[in-house]
Amino acid sequence: MGTVMTSASHHVPATLQWRDDELHLLDQTRLPLQIHIERQDDAQQVWQSIRQLKVRGAPAIGVAAAYGLCVAMRPHQALGLPEFRETLRQNAQYLNTARPTAVNLAWALQRMLAVAAAHAAVDSADLYARLVAEARRIHAEDTAICAGIGQHGVDLIRPGMGVLTHCNAGALATTGLGTATAPMYLAHQRGTRFKVFADETRPLLQGARLTAWELQSAGLDVTLITDNMAASMMASGQVQLVIVGTDRVTANGDVVNKIGTLGVAVLAQHFGVPFYVACPSSTIDAATASGDQVEIEERTPDEVTGFGDTRTAPQAMPVRNPAFDVTPHALVRGLITEHGIIKAPFDEGLRRVARTADDASRTA
Ligand code: MRU
Repeated sequence: MGTVMTSASHHVPATLQWRDDELHLLDQTRLPLQIHIERQDDAQQVWQSIRQLKVRGAPAIGVAAAYGLCVAMRPHQALGLPEFRETLRQNAQYLNTARPTAVNLAWALQRMLAVAAAHAAVDSADLYARLVAEARRIHAEDTAICAGIGQHGVDLIRPGMGVLTHCNAGALATTGLGTATAPMYLAHQRGTRFKVFADETRPLLQGARLTAWELQSAGLDVTLITDNMAASMMASGQVQLVIVGTDRVTANGDVVNKIGTLGVAVLAQHFGVPFYVACPSSTIDAATASGDQVEIEERTPDEVTGFGDTRTAPQAMPVRNPAFDVTPHALVRGLITEHGIIKAPFDEGLRRVARTADDASRTA
């Protein structure tokens, strides 16, 4: 048996690392021009790093928040257990406000709080050690989930295909092979010849700065296109498959993902191109019935009124800048999870995958 691939490229640094009891994040706002790794010293810094998209992508946000809570609690190990638990709760509540849409943030923090509730720790230092262990487990699970999605999705990619993706649901958005990119990395490793088209993804260019960079660094055949080129690429028969990531999949299978995903899904439907979503179990929100109930982050207008440091819009121009949109489940051909591909009707499959993942993490 060949080696199981879990990391995308030796040329792209890890999204984050926990070493010597410290959290280090790759600052994704500077990519691909600068590689800058930043140590996180307190909860405020972690909150800012998530808010400013230094660390971004739903799975990476979850793992960063879990370690971020450890960073926040590290100085408090001499407190009595009740005070330690109360400080933990406050910090989790605070970190949870960094961004509203990716469910992995609340999911990871909830898992950390559950550790404090479940274990009869002897003292705060003991509870702190258990929190670090749980954050490490969340991290390791994320890496394994990416590999699982890759294995279940790889057969979708056949020789000669053009595969379009939007935003970055890649290695940089996770701690492994990415979600949408995992089938691509595995197909490339197998020797399948195919092309990837990466939407640049305005306004913050995660497709151009991150997806194009990481796939190119790993030797994949990737071509960058602007968002408004997707229609003509499909019309001219150059795209046979779409795979995107997601920030939250609701109980009915609606997909919340980077703004512009809905447009790609509508186009795919029109041109008869299968539209797949890579969906780690950590991104399933079984408690929310449908996508219209999800809070969509509205970001600052200057991401839209300018390009880099150059202002491109008139002064005082009203702007909308929602960071995500909702793709109705009817446009989704399948959800690629680490436990297999779920097809419509999605609700039952999502419940099963969420349950399986829950059981697995409880018995780990
Ligand atoms: O605003 P971002 O860069 O955090 O948005 C990221 C996305 O929309 C990704 O597609 C999603 O989080 C899935 S990442 C595996």
